Formats: sequence, structure tokens, C-alpha cells
Amino acid sequence: MSQANVPKDVKERIKASYDVIASKYNEWTVKHSPLRQEYTAKVFEFLSASGSSQQPRFLELGCGAGLPITQKLLSCPEAHVIANDISTTQIGLARNTLLGAAEENAGNSGRLTLIEGDMTKLSFTDQSFDAVFAFYSLIHLPRTEQTEMVGKIARWLKPGGYLVANFADSDTEAVVMDKWLDKNDWMFWSSWGRDETLKIIEEAGIKVVVGDVRKDEVNSSFLWVVGKR
Ligand SMILES: C[S@@+](CC[C@H](N)C(=O)[O-])C[C@H]1O[C@@H](n2cnc3c(N)ncnc32)[C@H](O)[C@@H]1O
Repeated sequence: MSQANVPKDVKERIKASYDVIASKYNEWTVKHSPLRQEYTAKVFEFLSASGSSQQPRFLELGCGAGLPITQKLLSCPEAHVIANDISTTQIGLARNTLLGAAEENAGNSGRLTLIEGDMTKLSFTDQSFDAVFAFYSLIHLPRTEQTEMVGKIARWLKPGGYLVANFADSDTEAVVMDKWLDKNDWMFWSSWGRDETLKIIEEAGIKVVVGDVRKDEVNSSFLWVVGKR
């Protein structure tokens, strides 16, 4: 792992890498999901306590193959989920898993919209989501783009809506790793660090309700945030 500048083709390289490592990453992620499940459940509880919409609209950024989180979002009755990922392979897997022919998925097709592409290029009407979920995905944006993305999320959330996401907890402009999960991959992460990230979220108009630094299931420390618009 090394410190580096942000390469111009960072998005193309991340996409190409996830296209290659998708199945290896997904094998890991499904087995190590308690924290993501916990923070997702927290948002469900907050939404239900606030008596919000009976037909909630959820946005998931960097959804991967849709397991376990997109699937959990769909378990919320009547929810409509828009799930985005930059990787063609990941979106294809999500389509197969969540929109497949299996009987238990029969109700998903009208409630799930999958969008392939860079999350920073997404555009939605202001105040259109009850909650936005981004696990281990904003961390792949150069940090100046993380700031812009948080600003967009704030605008997309309904008043009283929630952002739940995790960020790297230390201040690093660019961390790159060759051969992260495969001999052909290259990976990039970035972060403003704990204090600055919390400040950016608050300045965007999202009140930080939970801001925990916790180690995840593989002992990596992240800032886990739940914020309320
Ligand atoms: C570490 S995985 C996390 C996947 C899933 N959220 C999870 O928790 O298992 C990061 C995901 O973010 C996606 N990603 C990375 N940069 C992205 C971007 N700019 N726009 C959309 N998705 C992106 C990757 O393709 C990958 O599927």
C-alpha cells in the first residue's frame, strides 16, 4: 500500500478492477456483513420511529452485487430501491441475484432499479429519498469528490431522511494498492479523516446522529456515520 497522487484515470481503473475481482470481493463481503447489517437496521428503526413514508425510496451507492444490503433494503415492504455501481460485472451479478427468475425474487422487479455508472454522475430530483446507503463505496472517490457527493446526497434526501455510510477514519488523499485481491487489480481509496468528514457532513446540512469509529469484521477501522437531513 502506498501514498500517491490521484491518477486521472482513477474511475476507469477502479471499474476495471472490480470487473475482475467481483466474485472474490463478494465471497468476502457476504461473510463479513454484521456491521453493515447493524447500521442498515438502525436506519430502518429510525425511519419507523419517525413514522416516515409507507413506501420508502432508498438509494444505494456502490451496491456491489446487491448482497447482502440491496437485498435487505428490498425486504422492507413497499420500498423502492435504486442501486448504483460503476462495475458492469457487479451490476450484472446484482441483476441476476435480485431480479432473477427465482420465485422469492418475484416481487423485486418493479421495486428495484439498477443503474450502472459513476455515482458522481447520478442526478435525481431534490428531496426524493428517505435514505441513502453507501457502504465501502464513497471511500473509492477522490476526497474532493466525496465532499461534492455528500452535498448531492443532502439535496436528494427528504427532510428527516437518513444518510448511512462508512469512511476511512484517517486523513489520506490517495492510498493505492496493486494486486489487492488479484494479480490484475489496482485499488484506490481516499479520506478526509474522521473530524473533517463529520464537519463536511454537518456543513452539507446533514446532522450527524451516529459517528462511530469501529473496527469491522476484518479488523479494519472505519468511521460509521448515520446522519439525518
Ligand atoms: C468495496 S465494494 C462495496 C460493495 C457493497 N457496498 C458492500 O458493502 O459489499 C465497493 C463498490 O463500489 C463500487 N464503486 C467504486 N467506485 C464507484 C463509483 N465512482 N461509482 C459507483 N460505484 C463505485 C465498486 O464497483 C464496488 O462494487
